[in-house]
Amino acid sequence: MLTSIKTNHLTSSGQRLGMMYFRVAIVLFGAQLLMGLIAAIQFLYPGFLFELFDFSVARMVHINALVVWMLYAMIGSVYYMLSDETEHEGVAMGLGKLGFWVLTLAVTIVVLVYIFIQIGPGNETTIWLINEGREYIEAPRWADIGIVVVVLIFYWNVFATFMAGKKTGIMQVMVANLLALAGLYLAGMFFTDNISMDQYWWWWVIHLWVEATWEVFVGTLAAYALIKIIGAKREVVEMWLWIEVLMLFGSGILGLGHHYFWIGTPEYWWEIGALFSALEPVPLIAMFVHVLYDWGKEQGESGVRETVKNNPAMAWLVTNAFGNFLGAGIWGFFHTLPQVNIYTHGTQFTAAHGHLAFFGAYATILVGMMYVGLQGAYGIKEMKSNFNSKMAIFLITFGVVGMTVALTIAGYEQVLVERAELGGGWNAFFTAQDLPWYVQAQLWRAIMGVVTLVGFVYLVLDLLTIGKRAKAAEA
Ligand code: HEM
Ligand code: HEM
Ligand SMILES: [Fe+2]
Repeated sequence: MLTSIKTNHLTSSGQRLGMMYFRVAIVLFGAQLLMGLIAAIQFLYPGFLFELFDFSVARMVHINALVVWMLYAMIGSVYYMLSDETEHEGVAMGLGKLGFWVLTLAVTIVVLVYIFIQIGPGNETTIWLINEGREYIEAPRWADIGIVVVVLIFYWNVFATFMAGKKTGIMQVMVANLLALAGLYLAGMFFTDNISMDQYWWWWVIHLWVEATWEVFVGTLAAYALIKIIGAKREVVEMWLWIEVLMLFGSGILGLGHHYFWIGTPEYWWEIGALFSALEPVPLIAMFVHVLYDWGKEQGESGVRETVKNNPAMAWLVTNAFGNFLGAGIWGFFHTLPQVNIYTHGTQFTAAHGHLAFFGAYATILVGMMYVGLQGAYGIKEMKSNFNSKMAIFLITFGVVGMTVALTIAGYEQVLVERAELGGGWNAFFTAQDLPWYVQAQLWRAIMGVVTLVGFVYLVLDLLTIGKRAKAAEA
């Protein structure tokens, strides 16, 4: 991966820029996991690093790094596929490169400030310089504005290249969806001291990202990658992409109501949220079925077993289909009705869903795209999985599924003891967390976190070496 830019076979500067984004993404992914582990240990030993590196800080860096590495990998993927899809070199890649360095510098400063400043008074200065205090998107306002500028450069680059080049269906969806995705970020930027109002708009970013625009985004990546890896028919993947756009936006936008149950918004959101968010798994199931069905059908019809041109990427893509369906569709549906959510809200059940959904729907396919990038960078015709690739996908997936199961058990115990039996007060909250089911579940989560981290080490090793190894094997 490190040499992937220098020794490259990449003809376009956009693809080289894409690889640069992938590298930063993987570094931030590693930072995310380390922070998660610190927070997980603090669940078991609350005194661990107390007043040096508190839970609130570890947790905050954990989930902000998550969002930022995913955005990096998403921008990387777009730059990678841009010239390929549009058959155009790219309009202003020099400017794109400048944007990359500005963004990376800003992210570094923000993270250092998070780590070294940590706590202080909540006032205007804090909002501008330290932390905006909105979960997942905590960047201070100066960085927020910087991010908007860099994203504008990025978007303009993509849009102008699209206008100048060939206009495929995949790129049409991509360009329209990216506008919505970037525009939504603005909803999380202004300040109000009314917490209900703040949450109301904050969910526009978080929910409308992960349950609408990001889902459509990874749909475009899957379509592109399936064409590249197994030679999927463009008409077929594009048709499904348009259906997904329709269905995901249909249910996803009003599905927003499932976050408006208990934050002081009017009660009609109960019905709206219940109905539309319950429909959200439908496109996820359709997506899951179509990927596997199409693949089997095509092979059955042609009578030849399609060669998979990039095994590790394909493995991550299949994990994506399952992971999206399970993490978002099933674990999401579990707690989406207000009748259920009143018990599960704010328990470890939410964290179980959060982990499996973010991992299954996004981490998987973005790692897959990194492998697609590496194949291009080294000019390899068929990229096979090796021991490291297999250990990486197995251990990471096993670790995250293990964490999810542990957290689901912890959440179940909280629902029964804290909410149903003890009525959900202050004491109930602590009593439930002292009981053996909860404590053991947290221990298992930490163990499974270590498994995930070991898998990540294999992943880095593989990304660094698979290109050279595959090249040598081909020669
Ligand atoms: C890939 C898609 C998805 C991702 C990444 C995702 C992620 C998350 C995360 C991280 C949270 C916790 C937010 C917080 O910090 O408060 C959350 C909450 C929630 N999600 Fe999802 N989600 C996805 C899709 C879905 C779907 C499809 C459904 C419903 C069918 C759903 C239902 C919910 C509900 C009801 C909550 C609120 C939980 C509570 O009461 O605390 N999610 N989601
Ligand atoms: C080494 C592995 C990991 C460990 C030990 C870990 C641990 C943690 C801990 C302790 C929290 C705080 C939970 C709370 O406040 O109750 C957390 C939150 C979170 N983590 Fe992880 N994590 C790991 C990997 C991941 C991965 C791979 C993802 C997704 C790709 C992820 C996504 C999240 C999300 C979305 C939240 C916020 C959940 C919520 O508030 O509902 N984590 N994690
Ligand atoms: Fe949601």
